[in-house]
Amino acid sequence: MRFSSALLLALPALTLAEEQVPLFDKLKGYLNKATQAVASAVPAAPSSPVAAGAAKVAASVQHELTLENWKEVLTTDPTASAPTTQDWLVYINGGNVTCYGFCGNTTKAWNETAALLTAKPNSPKLAVVDCDKEQLLCNSWSVGPPALYFFQIPKPLADQSAPAPTARFIPLNRTSTTTETLKKLVFDKDYEKVTPYEGAFHPFTGFIAKNGLALPVAWVIWGFSKMPSWLPMILISFMSRSFM
Ligand SMILES: *[C@@H]1O[C@H](CO)[C@@H](O)[C@H](O)[C@H]1NC(C)=O
Ligand SMILES: *[C@@H]1O[C@H](CO)[C@@H](O)[C@H](O)[C@H]1NC(C)=O
Ligand SMILES: *[C@@H]1O[C@H](CO)[C@@H](O)[C@H](O)[C@H]1NC(C)=O
Ligand SMILES: *[C@@H]1O[C@H](CO)[C@@H](O)[C@H](O)[C@H]1NC(C)=O
Repeated sequence: MRFSSALLLALPALTLAEEQVPLFDKLKGYLNKATQAVASAVPAAPSSPVAAGAAKVAASVQHELTLENWKEVLTTDPTASAPTTQDWLVYINGGNVTCYGFCGNTTKAWNETAALLTAKPNSPKLAVVDCDKEQLLCNSWSVGPPALYFFQIPKPLADQSAPAPTARFIPLNRTSTTTETLKKLVFDKDYEKVTPYEGAFHPFTGFIAKNGLALPVAWVIWGFSKMPSWLPMILISFMSRSFM
């Protein structure tokens, strides 16, 4: 009796703690991993040459962002004369840890789009963040994969003053994003219709970035993400017991 009431109390806590990721998706992620583990014991089929080609092109044109380098990478072309802005399209990717193994299809679509973009003049510069490797960077921006972040970064004028960079955050649907979706976003410039983000987590001008809080905040979020999911359950059951 006592046990089952504790269990009942604990269940909502469990789902509450994992609010960002629906429990079902998470379970599917675990299942996926288990399936992949089995599949990896079987020799892999040769991957399609088109995808391999796209991956090669994607690798050659996109900059890999890290916590250390992103501020230096996301800048304007030094040879361009002010006033000018540089467009940057950043793909926020993740693997088994931050995307629960669901980002593969989206990444493939991104690679193909990136390859197509290189052939187009005046296309934005491309970068990619792997949130599995760069959890602190993703936390400090408060973003998760798969998503796009589109930046327009003005070159500072001679007196070093510069208009603020704009940032547009575009979450991608990890089940339904295809090359077509991305092409529409990027080639038809649908991303320019997205309302610019101006909240606290804006990487350049947000409250957190301006006050040097990005790293501490990132660590705190990281800490919570490392908290085992049974911990809130135990805490709630202790709390409820002391109330009863
Ligand atoms: C993701 O998990 C699967 C199954 O555990 C594994 O085969 C694969 O190598 C992992 N991928 C990465 C990038 O760690
Ligand atoms: C996408 O391209 C990257 C190189 O930038 C490569 O490492 C990755 O395997 C590719 N992914 C897919 C799904 O094609
Ligand atoms: C990726 O695409 C394949 C084939 O279209 C599909 O079977 C699979 O469910 C997709 N994976 C995800 C995570 O959406
Ligand atoms: C993602 O796409 C699927 C299939 O089109 C849809 O069922 C689902 O609601 C979408 N998810 C979000 C968050 O928009």
